[in-house]
Amino acid sequence: MFKALIMEKPEGAEEATPQIREISEEALPEGEVLVSVDYSTVNYKDGLCLSPSGGGLVRKYPHVPGIDFAGTVEASEDARFAPGDRVVLTGWRVGEVHWGGYAQKARVRADWLVPLPEGLSTRQAMAVGTAGFTAMLAVMALEDHGLSPDKGEVLVTGAAGGVGSVATAILGHLGYEVAAVTGRPETSDYLTDLGASRIVPRAELAETVRRPLESESWAGCVDAVGGEMLARVLGQMKYGGSVAAVGLAGGATLPTSVIPFLLRGVNLLGIDSVMQPFENRQRAWARVARDLPMAKLEEMIRSAVLEDLPRLGADILKGRVQGRVVVDLKG
Ligand SMILES: NC(=O)c1ccc[n+]([C@@H]2O[C@H](COP(=O)([O-])OP(=O)(O)OC[C@H]3O[C@@H](n4cnc5c(N)ncnc54)[C@H](OP(=O)(O)O)[C@@H]3O)[C@@H](O)[C@H]2O)c1
Repeated sequence: MFKALIMEKPEGAEEATPQIREISEEALPEGEVLVSVDYSTVNYKDGLCLSPSGGGLVRKYPHVPGIDFAGTVEASEDARFAPGDRVVLTGWRVGEVHWGGYAQKARVRADWLVPLPEGLSTRQAMAVGTAGFTAMLAVMALEDHGLSPDKGEVLVTGAAGGVGSVATAILGHLGYEVAAVTGRPETSDYLTDLGASRIVPRAELAETVRRPLESESWAGCVDAVGGEMLARVLGQMKYGGSVAAVGLAGGATLPTSVIPFLLRGVNLLGIDSVMQPFENRQRAWARVARDLPMAKLEEMIRSAVLEDLPRLGADILKGRVQGRVVVDLKG
């Protein structure tokens, strides 16, 4: 028997509620690989899956949320994995449609797993988690579109959140001047420690401007916020600059015009972490191990256990979580 956080919604109930239960391996869904989960984490999507409505992501109850986890292979019917291998899983709708990482064991498809790169522990992998992995994908996409430190300042929006914190640390480490946008002035020291060269108050970018173009400020942008802020940033990009659109913490609609694309050759790059092909996942995890300073990662971590998750899920939906939460499932 092992411990799991299960969202339960009995027949006729309007809302799902979280319960910590002891369950057996037989209860786990089908899959080729059984993983002993060491750590999971809390992402925005986890907040949705932990909410009474399931946020439109959870289709079937009872459900084990947790969109990512890192652990050790216990048994495998697939030749690519053997007992003792250390693995990480993000995406593939695990924790939404398939049972996820908020349990001490998970059974999943071999195709969904990535072997952990040398030098990265399972705890560090979940300190990175989907948020940090996606931040790395965003930085890689910007580089693939020509961004380099000599091109100018890079903006990171939602900087004190998970995606933003990791993006700030990676970019700072790679030698970029990072302008970090935050609505929480109290996180200034934290962001500067991570690698931000200056703090941009959220209010500066929250105001809607009717002009489609403003002065050229940013060579690149990792955007976790979307909405009006993204629209505003597009008009502030330097000629030929790229924005990696990662999130929608500030809204899903994009009230913009095509002018920044037509007159400044601005690129809007979509970043999806869920369906990334295996090769790019491996490339991103290898880059994380190389380009994310582990001492900075340590500064972002807050530890938690299964029992903390309902509260943390509600917090992340309100934008109240700073940095990265690591959920310890070994206890
Ligand atoms: N594309 C993908 O595959 C992918 C993968 C992972 C995450 N995401 C998305 O990326 C976004 C960030 O994820 P996360 O894990 O970093 O979440 P998070 O830790 O909650 O960070 C989001 C940050 O955005 C800022 N923010 C929140 N509400 C805002 C608002 N109304 N207006 C402006 N800024 C606001 C806050 O930063 P400050 O306090 O610093 O202002 C907050 O910390 C989410 O929308 C998530 O769904 C997408």
